[in-house]
Amino acid sequence: MRQVPDIKTPLPGPKAAAIIARDSQFVSPSYTRDYPFVMASGAGAVVEDVDGNVFLDCAAGIAVNGTGHSHPDVVKAITDQAKKYLHMSGTDFYYELQVQLAEQIAQIAPVGGGTGQVRSFFSNSGAEAIEAALKLAKYSTRRYNIIAFLGSFHGRTTGAMAVTSSKYVQRRGFGPMMPGVYHAPYANCYRCPVGLKPDSCEAECLAFVEEQILVHLVSPDEVAAVLVEPIQGEGGYVVPPAKFLQRLRALTSQHGMLLIADEVQSGMGRTGRMFACEHFGLDADIVTIAKGIASGLPLGITASRADVMTWPPGAHASTFGGNPVSSASALATIKILKDGLVKNADVVGAHLMSRLQALKDKHVLIGDVRGKGLMIGVELVRDRVTKERATTERDRLVHEMFKRGVLILGAGRNAIRFAPPLVLTSDQADTIVALFDESLSALSRA
Ligand SMILES: Cc1ncc(COP(=O)(O)O)c(C=O)c1O
Repeated sequence: MRQVPDIKTPLPGPKAAAIIARDSQFVSPSYTRDYPFVMASGAGAVVEDVDGNVFLDCAAGIAVNGTGHSHPDVVKAITDQAKKYLHMSGTDFYYELQVQLAEQIAQIAPVGGGTGQVRSFFSNSGAEAIEAALKLAKYSTRRYNIIAFLGSFHGRTTGAMAVTSSKYVQRRGFGPMMPGVYHAPYANCYRCPVGLKPDSCEAECLAFVEEQILVHLVSPDEVAAVLVEPIQGEGGYVVPPAKFLQRLRALTSQHGMLLIADEVQSGMGRTGRMFACEHFGLDADIVTIAKGIASGLPLGITASRADVMTWPPGAHASTFGGNPVSSASALATIKILKDGLVKNADVVGAHLMSRLQALKDKHVLIGDVRGKGLMIGVELVRDRVTKERATTERDRLVHEMFKRGVLILGAGRNAIRFAPPLVLTSDQADTIVALFDESLSALSRA
């Protein structure tokens, strides 16, 4: 397989077109496919479609395939485990793999103040990890209200949907929502909700929580938890100032609320640290993990301070949660991350970020470039002063990239997200930037 994009057929090719036609007849139309990519195989950060077209993957299956496609160590761990047994529900039986994984999580998760006094609940997805976190916070505090942030994405199950507020299409038609949820502005410094500049900011946006929600709407002693993405993912790859998260930590501790850090997208090395919380010195009470944890196999983890996770047998469980094959994949994934991949995300991420920053001089459509490691967002605007959102331009840009052999996704209303496998090389990053440059030029010519 070649290391650079190689588009052989007009897209979609004939085999892809035939599969998409069948999909439209038999598969739920609720999925958001932006362009007609039909996967055939992948290795590292390179994927091939059913017609033999080769692409660079800058989406990693929505920030999942950190170790790249079909990393040999992960495939070996999966196949070795599959030959032994596929399932033995952790709900009713023990298996050591799950204990090993919980032990690993206790070492690496940004929870428990480095004491290692951490317990894990296992499920199958990010949304389920959030459901468990919400239930645990309510159970543990005997309170029922939750504060979350505007622009956040936490999943599509009923509880997770209620705390999500990224786009209304994710909520429209599904009301009424779970009660007891309050949303506050997120610390988006490019569009500061209280009109300040990052250099003189004391995270005043949190005043909305302190002086509005906790004064007019809900008593602090009835709030179970504050749920926050340390870096907002789906909402546009928004990096808050450290003060925002630190003040939030102080506020929750002051009132006996739990702080839930949703690391589903930002965790497992994506930001150049094992967890994004580490960039901000943030220690949470509960952390949710999914996506990159098992290199593509379904797994969700809700890790919490051991003294918070004290619910009794039967209070919460999942037939498939933390199944042996996913757990084996997760153990292999963590080893690969620790052995150098987190470092690669840091180094190649810094390189990619500086190359993208440099494009700002050439393309006025680029309003903001932000991120950590290989979690980088580029926000597109029609005017750098008014910051009018370039929404249709963003959608066209995603297509221009596809036509040139790069799989990439949007985030928020007008940002594009660079979330490649963490095995990306600097050369591949350069290719992506060159094709991004070309795509932006094509857009301005159109
Ligand atoms: C921060 C965050 N939390 C939760 C979820 C939900 O994860 P899943 O799609 O696995 O249910 C996502 C998915 O994009 C996410 O980005």
